[in-house]
This record gives sequence, C-alpha cells and structure tokens, in this order.
Amino acid sequence: MDKINSETLDRAQRRTETERLLSNIKSLPLIPKMMFEVTKFLQSPAPTTSGLARLVGRDQGLTAKILSVANSPLYGLQRKVTSLEFAIIVLGYKEISDIVSALSLAESIKSTSDKYFNHDEFWLHSMVVGSAAKGIAQNLGHMDLGSDAFVAGMLHELGIQLMHKYMHRQFEDICRKVWQQEESFSGAELDTLGMTHQELGKFLAERWNLPVVLCDTLSHHHSPGELNPRSVLAAVVHLADYMTQKLKIANVYWDENMQLDPSIVDTLQLSSQENLEKFILEYKDLFIETVFTIRM
Ligand SMILES: [Fe+2]
Ligand SMILES: [Fe+2]
Repeated sequence: MDKINSETLDRAQRRTETERLLSNIKSLPLIPKMMFEVTKFLQSPAPTTSGLARLVGRDQGLTAKILSVANSPLYGLQRKVTSLEFAIIVLGYKEISDIVSALSLAESIKSTSDKYFNHDEFWLHSMVVGSAAKGIAQNLGHMDLGSDAFVAGMLHELGIQLMHKYMHRQFEDICRKVWQQEESFSGAELDTLGMTHQELGKFLAERWNLPVVLCDTLSHHHSPGELNPRSVLAAVVHLADYMTQKLKIANVYWDENMQLDPSIVDTLQLSSQENLEKFILEYKDLFIETVFTIRM
C-alpha cells in the first residue's frame, strides 16, 4: 500500500476511535446553572435591570469578566461601563445574556494549566477573539449579528478545551509533535485523533444545543470559505482569530501559521486583499489596549 493510502486509512481508524471515545465521555459539562437561571429570569413576566444585576452579581468572577469585555476597546462601546447594572442598561438584556452564556460555557469546561496549556493565555485569546469579532462585525455594518460574534469568538477554540480536558494524553502527543517541529498542529491532530479541534468544538456545541450558525462557525473557523452558503459570522471570527497571529497579540501556538481564507474578502465585502491588510493593521492599537484591559 502506498504511503498516502495507508495514512488515509490510519486517520480513518483514529477517527473511529475518537468518535467512540467521545460517545463514552460520561461527564461532559451540562448547560451552566447561571446561564439557565438568566434565561429563566428573562422569560419571567417582568424582568428588571436590578433583578438581573442581582442574579448575575452573585458571581463576582463572572461580573468582573463581563465588565472587562464590555470595556475592552475592541468590543466597541462608546462609553465606559463601571457597574453591572449600567452594563445591562447599555447593552440590553439579550446581549448581557449572550455574554453570560459564552463566559459560563467556556468556564464550565475549563481545566488547569500545564506544560502545553496555559489557561490564562487561552482565556485571553478567547476574550480577545470574541471582542474583536464583535467590534469588527459592528464596524463592517453587520449590526444584525448582535452579540453572536462575541459568543462565537469566545467559544471558537472549544475543541481545544475539550481535547485538553477529556483526551489529555492525545493532546500532549499532538503538542509534543508540534513542539518538536515534526508536524503542523492540524496535521498532528489528524494523525492522532483523525479529526481536528474544529470538529470537536462543533461536537460539544451540538451537545449543548447551540444554534446551527454557531456550530458551523466553530467547525469552520479556519476555513469559512468551505461553508455553503457563506457565513458572515464564520468570516468575522476567522478574521479576528487570524489577526491575533498576524499582529502577534493574544496569539496561541495552535493557531500558528494559520492561513487567511481569501473567501472572506468577498463575504465581508472588503473590496481587495490589500484593503484587508490595511484594515488589519489599523486594529493593532485596539488589540494592544484590549489585552491590557482584559489582563487588569
Ligand atoms: Fe482554532
Ligand atoms: Fe484561535
């Protein structure tokens, strides 16, 4: 058998093993309690700003994160938000509820740092991509995306979290291969698991019953052009993620050498590749300031 055929066969076998492993995980996180309670509260007959602030405010860590997102220069709010109550007034119930969902879903699958995974860097990368996706969508006139861009950006690497937490040995194998420069991250993923973190992210997002457009964004955040029809949400998240590499700010090693999918020039109506390069550079200071705001 030639090398390519045996490689394809190996990967197919690995994939079957990974699928079996995924279906046997008994302890996948459920919908977080806070997300559930906020949704229920907002469906009550007369939700109030102070009531919502009281509910969310019970979790101080979450409150601090909401404020740092809302105040991050990339997110694009015109005013500084100093309290949860004021954040609810400025952003509205739906957007606050979306931010709570994204942050608590990411938190529900968090794991501790180790040699190949730095939790703080991971969190920073996710927050920056989420905030940038939201700000860029708004800047390009896609107001209809609302806070979905933040949610999708915040959760785009869900598959990495899943892999790190539930397939730890395989995660370490993949990272070792990448660190020893044997392979690219996606090549090592395919050789070890027969699938990529994009697919793993989609798997978990589907388990959580997240909207299809979000699941598709997770599975195509490296290749939005493969989606038919094209998705503005996936294009924006891809661009925000690519920018962390290009600008070398809040970048992570599993995204290294990430190629820009040229289809987004069209999807986001950026007129030309040169325009896109210019657009990216204009964001540099906002990325730097956002990292500073989130790290505070
Ligand atoms: Fe990724
Ligand atoms: Fe990323």
